[in-house]
Amino acid sequence: MAQAQYPMPAALKKEARLDAAKYQDMYTKSINDPEAFWAEHGKRISWFTPYTKVKNTHFGKDDVTIEWFRDGTLNACYNCVDRHLPERADKTAIVWEGDDVDEQKHITFRELHEQVAKLANGLKKLGVKKGDRVAIYMPMVPEAAFAMLACARIGAVHSVIFAGFSPHAIADRVNDCEAKVIITANEGRRGSKGVALKANVDKAVADNACPSVTNVLVFKHTDTDVAWNQGLDVWWHELLGDCDSDCPAEVMQAEDPLFILYTSGSTGKPKGVQHTTGGYMVYASMTHEYVFDLREDDVYWCAADVGWITGHSYIVYGPLANGTTTLMFEGVPTYPDETRIAKIVDKHQVTILYTAPTAIRALMAKGDAAARGTKRDSLRILGSVGEPINPEAWDWYFNRIGNGNCPIMDTFWQTETGGIMITPLPAVKDMKPGSAMTPFFGVKPGLVDNEGKALQGAAEGNLVIADSWPGQSRTLWGDHERFIQTYFSTYPGYYFTGDGAKVDADGDYTITGRVDDVLNVSGHRLGTAEIESALVAHEAVAEAAVVGFPHDIKGQGIYVYVTVVEGTEASDDLRKELIKWVRTDLSPIATPDFIQFAPGLPKTRSGKIMRRILRKIAANEFESLGDTSTLADPSVVDSLIDNRLNK
Ligand code: PRX
Repeated sequence: MAQAQYPMPAALKKEARLDAAKYQDMYTKSINDPEAFWAEHGKRISWFTPYTKVKNTHFGKDDVTIEWFRDGTLNACYNCVDRHLPERADKTAIVWEGDDVDEQKHITFRELHEQVAKLANGLKKLGVKKGDRVAIYMPMVPEAAFAMLACARIGAVHSVIFAGFSPHAIADRVNDCEAKVIITANEGRRGSKGVALKANVDKAVADNACPSVTNVLVFKHTDTDVAWNQGLDVWWHELLGDCDSDCPAEVMQAEDPLFILYTSGSTGKPKGVQHTTGGYMVYASMTHEYVFDLREDDVYWCAADVGWITGHSYIVYGPLANGTTTLMFEGVPTYPDETRIAKIVDKHQVTILYTAPTAIRALMAKGDAAARGTKRDSLRILGSVGEPINPEAWDWYFNRIGNGNCPIMDTFWQTETGGIMITPLPAVKDMKPGSAMTPFFGVKPGLVDNEGKALQGAAEGNLVIADSWPGQSRTLWGDHERFIQTYFSTYPGYYFTGDGAKVDADGDYTITGRVDDVLNVSGHRLGTAEIESALVAHEAVAEAAVVGFPHDIKGQGIYVYVTVVEGTEASDDLRKELIKWVRTDLSPIATPDFIQFAPGLPKTRSGKIMRRILRKIAANEFESLGDTSTLADPSVVDSLIDNRLNK
């Protein structure tokens, strides 16, 4: 059956910067002659020294080189702040909407410049130098953006740690990149509750567990008192009290690292995905402009968190490089009630709303209530990111939030890609709900089968990218081998996304989800290995296997199989304790939905757990288990099915 298609709204077609012909023309140029294409579009940002070299990239099985604009120099903070001062000094750079409905702030580019420069000088006072790493563990307040930009200004490499992570996870990330300073707040606020950020940092650094850290810089966001480590902790307001607002932006090479962002893979510890300055800024700003058909007077709201790549590229760097008014929201979509998102749209006259399917599904579950008493007529374009959007949620978003006249940009990309890769573009093609559709300029996607053979025409397979684009991650912090191994060795000659996709007869892409052991829970990327290692650290657990299962709101839920150590009772109390354990050891976002006690796990004779079977059982698909004859003990499967929770 042909997929339903929604036309691009006529009003948008009249004004949009692209149409089908322009897209095709630019796309063809970007693929046929990437050097010339990016030589031209690289100029969209400000360079201290212009580049003469554009692209030097090679995807080898054992050697990978990715360099863009190699000999250019620039500063990311300068691009987001200083260069707007001549024409946009009094324009609002950041609108902040607090957790509390009555709290808001407007920060102009002039004020942004002052705050960021002061903080940059403050960091220098703490001894932070070009190339040093700074961890940022902040709530969704403008100061989180100031912190990122201040690091960029002095050439320090930031590593933002999502504020939902627990002390153990903070310490892992801080130690991997040997951060010198941790920037945090006394407390965050979410849905009227306090989030004990400073206390989590205290636990992370206790007993010299993070030896590289010389200071913890604390922004006072609420009135809540916190414990104080003399000699280590520094109040933000005290440090900045006598800091100058004159701080020249450091001259950086295009390939100097801008930030590290830890993300989950199928195995082992989180990976420090490293992005560099030049290519990333070009790509983040260009995708932001074209995908959202940006206009000077837009009020743009990306409802993600700065702790994830979406917050980096599309709350901070992309929008601010484009001189856009970007809205930051501290709270949650359902507080004080389900109308919050729609009310923020009306209150700030938001024109572009970019959010995640999980938020849309949570609101959709309340029926029409989420739009109650609101107009949302300021909206022009909607965006979706982070996970597949099911056609029902797409339809609800389009009609209930967008009043049926705002196209939805279903943007597929990843922490590693730095910016949007596959997406509908305003006025280019009619939309197909649930389909990310077309590649962005310079992106050469393809499908391969499990043997790496390229698939042509309408097909389903593994999603790969055949050539580099400027926003691509260059390496993993301190581990280029793992970078090559993870992304370039599975299908030689290609960057492998880890996702599956379908291509239809029109050549449009639909992402079907991860084909590896990475979970996507409420748009949060989690590695099964990380959750398993948290579980086996508990004394009652002998072995644990974690798989995802389809979940109506979260997209995927977390299903855990646990074998307890001999002599331990597999009780309900233990189940509760293990759930709490994962929350505190890793993060509340990793909370298991189900824990099934299993005397044995299905393993091959070589001892490898067959997750395929565990996934099927978790999804209640007992008939399609596939071949179980290679299992060391096939009877394990019957016992797992018999004990399937809520079968
Ligand atoms: O599985 C894909 C899914 O999110 C993964 C990347 O997660 P992360 O690095 O945390 O970045 C999320 C924000 C860019 C991908 O491998 N994903 C992301 N966007 C989409 C998506 N799946 C389907 N449709 C999308 N639009």
